[in-house]
Amino acid sequence: MILKERVVENRIMGHPAQGLYKMVLSGQIAQTAIPGQFIHLQVADSNDPLLRRPLSIAGIDKVKEEVTIYYKVIGKGTELLTRIRENEHVSVLGPLGTGFTIPEQGELLLVAGGIGVFPLLSLIQVIDNEKVRVKLLWGGENKQFMESAGLIDIEKMGVDMEMSTLDGSLGTQGLVTALLESYLDGGRITELKDKGNLKVATCGPKGMLKAVTNICLSHKVPVEVSLEERMACGVGACLGCVCSVKDSEGNLKRKRVCKEGPVLDGKEVVWDE
Ligand SMILES: Cc1cc2nc3c(=O)[nH]c(=O)nc-3n(C[C@H](O)[C@H](O)[C@H](O)COP(=O)(O)OP(=O)(O)OC[C@H]3O[C@@H](n4cnc5c(N)ncnc54)[C@H](O)[C@@H]3O)c2cc1C
Ligand code: FES
Repeated sequence: MILKERVVENRIMGHPAQGLYKMVLSGQIAQTAIPGQFIHLQVADSNDPLLRRPLSIAGIDKVKEEVTIYYKVIGKGTELLTRIRENEHVSVLGPLGTGFTIPEQGELLLVAGGIGVFPLLSLIQVIDNEKVRVKLLWGGENKQFMESAGLIDIEKMGVDMEMSTLDGSLGTQGLVTALLESYLDGGRITELKDKGNLKVATCGPKGMLKAVTNICLSHKVPVEVSLEERMACGVGACLGCVCSVKDSEGNLKRKRVCKEGPVLDGKEVVWDE
């Protein structure tokens, strides 16, 4: 469904060098949005660029009827987004795609690479903390990135978090996959894992998602991955975003990331196409 949503907020976050922005939209999207879905946003009134841009839903406030998205300026489309002012209306297609499974008990381990943390924030929001223990492992380039990407707000969500940075300026030095390995290898988790109560949800660059999936599968932990592909229509019509998956018998199939994804079972994704 194409909707006109009102821009409540559209502002830069943190250090300008990081090019990270927060946008809050008011309208109908919030009514049906679930964590893991995305919106397809028209970035300009003109036909240039023609295609909408996909952005993950990072926050859902059903009472205020608002959704929050965070975006990094990459090219023309996201640069044009920064020019949209408060109270302007934007054309939004969505909410689109599949969402994450929301566990009702046990432990949910979230593994985020860089701006891949954004879709996971809406998942943290809806978890019942009385029943599900949530832990976030978040890796980024450096402290400036982590702070600009909303570190303080994420801490305010009260989530148990461990971080890694490539240069060691915040958290452990290295990759988030190393944090994941040491967490899954640790004794504390074993009891839950044996009961099949641990689940992982992850978002980040494709190489990281592949590594996270392999680590999880070697520990027999189920993992859901949020994939990114370049998208045109966003609604399953153009087949521009297909990826290969294999079913339980090992047969190869194609799935549209915009329709059957972006959240898929990590074990079905064919990583080396
Ligand atoms: C389901 C989904 C959810 C997303 N959620 C977010 C989000 O929450 N926040 C956010 O900042 N970004 C997100 N993205 C990525 C975002 O859509 C792109 O960064 C954006 O479309 C780039 O548009 P542009 O016009 O600025 O850049 P373009 O001019 O279109 O591209 C600039 C460069 O970036 C590359 N590029 C563009 N899009 C992608 C992509 N999807 N994957 C790999 N390379 C790409 C291009 O090849 C090109 O080299 C998401 C993408 C998908 C598919
Ligand atoms: S973007 Fe057209 S089918 Fe997915």
